[in-house]
Amino acid sequence: MVPEATVAQRPIAARPPTPLRSRTPWRLSDIDYGAIDRARVANDSTLFTLVTMASFVETGSDLYAHVLVSYFDQDPEVAGWLAQSWEHEEVQHGAALRAYVEHAWPDFDWQSVYDTFFEEYAKTCTVPDLEPSHALELAARCVVEMGTATLYSSLHDYVEEPVLKDLAARIYADEVRHYKHFYRYFRRYQQREGHGRWRVGRTLAKRMFASRDDDGYCAYRHVWRATRMGEGSSVERDYQAFLDRVGTLARRHAPRELPVDMLLRPLSLPAPALTGAKAVARTLYRCWLHA
Ligand SMILES: [Fe+2]
Ligand SMILES: [Fe+2]
Repeated sequence: MVPEATVAQRPIAARPPTPLRSRTPWRLSDIDYGAIDRARVANDSTLFTLVTMASFVETGSDLYAHVLVSYFDQDPEVAGWLAQSWEHEEVQHGAALRAYVEHAWPDFDWQSVYDTFFEEYAKTCTVPDLEPSHALELAARCVVEMGTATLYSSLHDYVEEPVLKDLAARIYADEVRHYKHFYRYFRRYQQREGHGRWRVGRTLAKRMFASRDDDGYCAYRHVWRATRMGEGSSVERDYQAFLDRVGTLARRHAPRELPVDMLLRPLSLPAPALTGAKAVARTLYRCWLHA
């Protein structure tokens, strides 16, 4: 249905970077789906797959969001923000990406493919164990938001179609704002709990490399079944090729410094230690990006 295309062939220099402004909360009705320039995305199968997978996982995110909300139920401020802002915004990301897929690739039956995905995802979705203390869980959430911010920043840089570029910028701004909330709450709890840097650093690294492969592969398989079956290909081989193309996209379009700063911030390192720590964090970030 969506012809194969490569991600990497576009000259980077031809596209001046669009600044990612910080934005206030937005609604679905703010997105002008009627203005989508379909010709710029219709044949990009990597983009189609990536956006559809993101729409599936974001839409399914409320499945386990309540686990985090109930972990903080003794803290009305944190639990209130999680339930009223964070969860709502994550689900809105799914709805906005779904609407984009339905407008840009109208032959794809989003709902029926999502239904088959969700049936499997609800049984097998990777739920990372909550950390043993609130401060450490909040540090781990900073890593998750760093990861999603990196994804949408890369997407924003890669995409030329204006409506998706705008949507990626909006979601990116939300993920950065989520990071800031989690970081602020982390500092508050860390003052009480007083974990050493080694413990916090280990938590950050652990969550960074916690495997999300199963969730990604689950989403990919359902998209693949709906679009590629009968073409004499195999899902394992196509998934590997897809990951290679996404790796190329990440190498070219992922932000370089902001994720490193986001990773290190919960460690509150003194200035003399920061240069060495940044070198280590950059290496970790590159491994994570290309894993
Ligand atoms: Fe999100
Ligand atoms: Fe988020």
